[in-house]
Amino acid sequence: MAVDLLLGLQWGDEGKGKIVDVLTSNYDIVARFQGGPNAGHTLEFDGIKHVLRTIPSGIFHEKSMNVIGNGVVIDPVVFVQELEGLDKFDIDYKSKLILSRKAHVILPTHRLLDAASEASKGKAKIGSTLKGIGPTYMDKTGRNGIRLGDLELNTWKDKYRALANKHEELIAFHNVDIQYNLPEMEAEFFKAVETLKELTFIDSEEYLQQAQKNGKSILAEGAQGSLLDIDFGTYPFVTSSNTTAAGACTGLGVAPNQIGEVFGIFKAYTTRVGSGPFPTELFDEVGAEMAKVGHEFGAVTGRARRCGWLDLVALKYTCQVNGVTQLMMMKGDVLSGFDKLKVCTAYKYKGEEITHLPYNIEPENVTPIYSEFDCWKEDLTKMREPSQFPKELNTYIDFLEKELEIPIKVVSVGPDRTQTIHR
Ligand code: GDP
Ligand code: IMO
Ligand code: MG
Repeated sequence: MAVDLLLGLQWGDEGKGKIVDVLTSNYDIVARFQGGPNAGHTLEFDGIKHVLRTIPSGIFHEKSMNVIGNGVVIDPVVFVQELEGLDKFDIDYKSKLILSRKAHVILPTHRLLDAASEASKGKAKIGSTLKGIGPTYMDKTGRNGIRLGDLELNTWKDKYRALANKHEELIAFHNVDIQYNLPEMEAEFFKAVETLKELTFIDSEEYLQQAQKNGKSILAEGAQGSLLDIDFGTYPFVTSSNTTAAGACTGLGVAPNQIGEVFGIFKAYTTRVGSGPFPTELFDEVGAEMAKVGHEFGAVTGRARRCGWLDLVALKYTCQVNGVTQLMMMKGDVLSGFDKLKVCTAYKYKGEEITHLPYNIEPENVTPIYSEFDCWKEDLTKMREPSQFPKELNTYIDFLEKELEIPIKVVSVGPDRTQTIHR
């Protein structure tokens, strides 16, 4: 059996949680392969809204197994809060959730380092979620990190102390005003580690290989979006992991030739939270309307998301980098009743018109060139069949499919599980 991937094609928050939840009934296993509690994946069903951070979005389905892969970074404190959030749903997570021994642990001092690093950058800050993601991946690639498997050894606290001491020196080096009470944070952390250890730690690459041999179907759930990828995103305004398809290979131990479908998910417009270039960003009342109707506030930090038109130059690029085989368009319902829609099809760059994403997309380098469309007026949220789509929506979808040369197989018309239309 091949492993299918689901990835965000923009700057995150495309609606991955919703779609993974919808698709889970087709899979035996759902696996997260990168990122950590910087993610906020929202699921809505039966009148309930739930936000997941590190736990895969398959957790609400009775049958599916949920794996946290080696590429993920785990904060025991946030993780335990997440588990507590599941208690009211009566989910047997002790048997449905398994974690890779090779996943790295976010320490309290990683969070503090994140804050110190951002504060020291001033206006040039990344706009990090301050969950300690960057410093934890730095320790991973610097070969200093603590992995879940280490927590099973008696000596792990020695390793912890040495690393935390080093972090405190680094925090001081940043020379910014960060107030903290480490003993208090550590007490909370050590308690959470003990709870975490009640779950099953596995060699997840081995588990997933065996599962495949036994004919189990696997869906890999991406976090963040392709434009936040450490290599291919808008560096340095990115996250610290590979959010693109290759990240699923390294973050789960899946070989490239085991990858099947690559589901690419995008909003009918674009949003971004945090700093960094965003060529099609709107600063007028149209952008404000997108934010208002789309409830564009971060699921993790509550920060307002910046909004703008769909950017096909960027979308083509991320489809290519990921090898997307099927597209899913989210939040078309938000645009209902807009006067006109615009789609960026090229950039003006150094006096020329280009259709590839250049090295630098800062506003002084690129000016978007738009195609304009009539917008649909109908409320889409009650529609359940493509035959109900207004003609303007069909025109928009047809145009995008032609430009991207990939079929749009799913159109989402609201946050609920049921508001998902397959074409
Ligand atoms: P993720 O990080 O990719 O899982 O996305 P988030 O959960 O951070 O943000 C997506 C937001 O849009 C959530 O509040 C979802 O409930 C909501 N959402 C998802 N799909 C749709 C849709 O088709 N229409 C509307 N109106 N909201 C949607
Ligand atoms: P999901 O999975 C949107 C952004 C942050 C910041 C940058 C770096 O819900 O789509 P980090 O905390 O990783 O150091 O932040 O990346 N960012 C996200 N934006 N959705 C996310 O996750 C994000 N995770 C990180 O806002 O700009
Ligand atoms: Mg999100």
